Amino acid sequence: MSRSAHPAGPRHADVLPEGRSVASAAPPADLNTLDPKVWAQTVTRDSQGVVTVGGIDVKALAEEHGTPAYIVDETDFRARARAWRTAFGHDADVFYAGKAFLSRAIVRWLHEEGLNLDVCSGGELATALSAGMPADRIAFHGNNKSTEEIHRAITAGVGRIVLDSFQEIVRVAHIAESLGKRQRVQIRITVGVEAHTHEFIATAHEDQKFGIPLAGGQAAEAVRRALRLDGLELIGIHSHIGSQIFDMSGFEVAAHRVVGLLKDIRDEHGVELPEIDLGGGLGIAYTSDDDPREPHEIAKALTEIVSRECDSAKLRTPRISVEPGRAIVGPTAFTLYEVGTIKPLDGLRTYVSVDGGMSDNIRTALYDAEYSVALVSRTSDAAPMLARVVGKHCESGDIVVKDAFLPADLAPGDLIAVPATGAYCRSMASNYNHVLRPPVVAVNDGASRVIVRRETEEDLLRLDVG
Ligand code: LLP
Repeated sequence: MSRSAHPAGPRHADVLPEGRSVASAAPPADLNTLDPKVWAQTVTRDSQGVVTVGGIDVKALAEEHGTPAYIVDETDFRARARAWRTAFGHDADVFYAGKAFLSRAIVRWLHEEGLNLDVCSGGELATALSAGMPADRIAFHGNNKSTEEIHRAITAGVGRIVLDSFQEIVRVAHIAESLGKRQRVQIRITVGVEAHTHEFIATAHEDQKFGIPLAGGQAAEAVRRALRLDGLELIGIHSHIGSQIFDMSGFEVAAHRVVGLLKDIRDEHGVELPEIDLGGGLGIAYTSDDDPREPHEIAKALTEIVSRECDSAKLRTPRISVEPGRAIVGPTAFTLYEVGTIKPLDGLRTYVSVDGGMSDNIRTALYDAEYSVALVSRTSDAAPMLARVVGKHCESGDIVVKDAFLPADLAPGDLIAVPATGAYCRSMASNYNHVLRPPVVAVNDGASRVIVRRETEEDLLRLDVG
């Protein structure tokens, strides 16, 4: 996989063939330093060496809320949301992609910070509406929306539905008409870009389930059909090329092709569609080797690309929208674990077991993702040891951090934390082995509050109706 296929570039431990001595791996100079690139904004160490976030130390958080727990820095979340909003200004819309992580508190923060929201299921829609997100600021996505979901979305008055197939064009039009409504829609197209990311999170090549291919005139045909249907108001074209992308060139090609389609639509139908949506997918730093772009750089690059393409096609520049998920929530949280069994394997590495695992972070197992980790309940001057942080599940692929250096005096009961777990960790969490899903705890200004509570055995048994 390419550099950005993993959330990080090559790290020392990666280049070690299995079984080779670890002696040649160069550990970081200081294991106690927390790289601000991967940790949430307010994270620091106090005078005792204990890590604090939002003014609360992790020992107090562990005592009050237990471990494992996802700890979200509300200040950081709001700052990132605001930075995206400000960067794109009033001529563009920022839709936070709820799939990265959604809860009612998150919806309220987004609302207060002036962002819109992208949902892709009835469950996400229900969460958004129940927390007061105005329906007209919600976009509804999905490659297989059920009739019932479409009905609910239209009845609620969502601002747009992103159409993903020929069948859906007809289905949404039909449902809208039956409700006496005209639904604002975009058509999601695949522009044929090979995004440099993991195969499972690349979405603009044609051989996959999302969107309607531009190739072979299929997207143009979808537009033709949508424009004919009374139940639909076609407002724009949508493209999402993939996730955890660092390189802007994929967006450049996508914008070029989307604008090309807008031009064809103008030439054929005399209609200039007013919006284009370039999706989400901007990468974040999971380790110190990653160098993500700032929202203002991304906004500048995307708006310049779109206006340049429109100028050369002699089109009015459409309103742009973007859908960042990971880039907003990802860096704002860390997972706090308690260390359990420690198993040194001579000449290989030390296996450090924590009280969670693949049920709270499936990304390492699923995408070969890389994470960092730090001892957070104290500092240590002990020598670095090459460690693999593993979970408590009955599966050898149950790895949270594949290769990382931790101090050699690490002991059961220590707290360690894995940063940048705000996106796609709680939202993809499972109950594998009937392990209970951790809570999400928001920290702000010296106070912590549970925004998603820890699952209990009663929760598990309630679903198990015998
Ligand atoms: N818009 C659309 C239409 C999407 O499908 C997605 C992500 C986003 C926006 C937000 O992408 P983001 O900015 O968060 O990268 N589970 C995978 C990621 C799957 C992304 C699915 N779609 C992971 O853990 O990396």
